[in-house]
Amino acid sequence: MYVCICAAATEDQVQLCITAGAHTAKQVAMGCGAGKGRGCGLCRDRIKSMIEKHYSECEVEQISA
Ligand code: FES
Repeated sequence: MYVCICAAATEDQVQLCITAGAHTAKQVAMGCGAGKGRGCGLCRDRIKSMIEKHYSECEVEQISA
């Protein structure tokens, strides 16, 4: 499923960028192009949500460990 139609970036590609260490939408854009540059910007909230979800789950895992 595409997260960013403008860059043809899929959810898996965005998730891979986040898992590799992207903490911001800008870093995701640098990694896979999603939300980058002159695109429409409609995907940016979705990307931010994916980043927040990933890092909130990481915090839960660290607390549980
Ligand atoms: S859908 Fe991502 S910039 Fe347009």
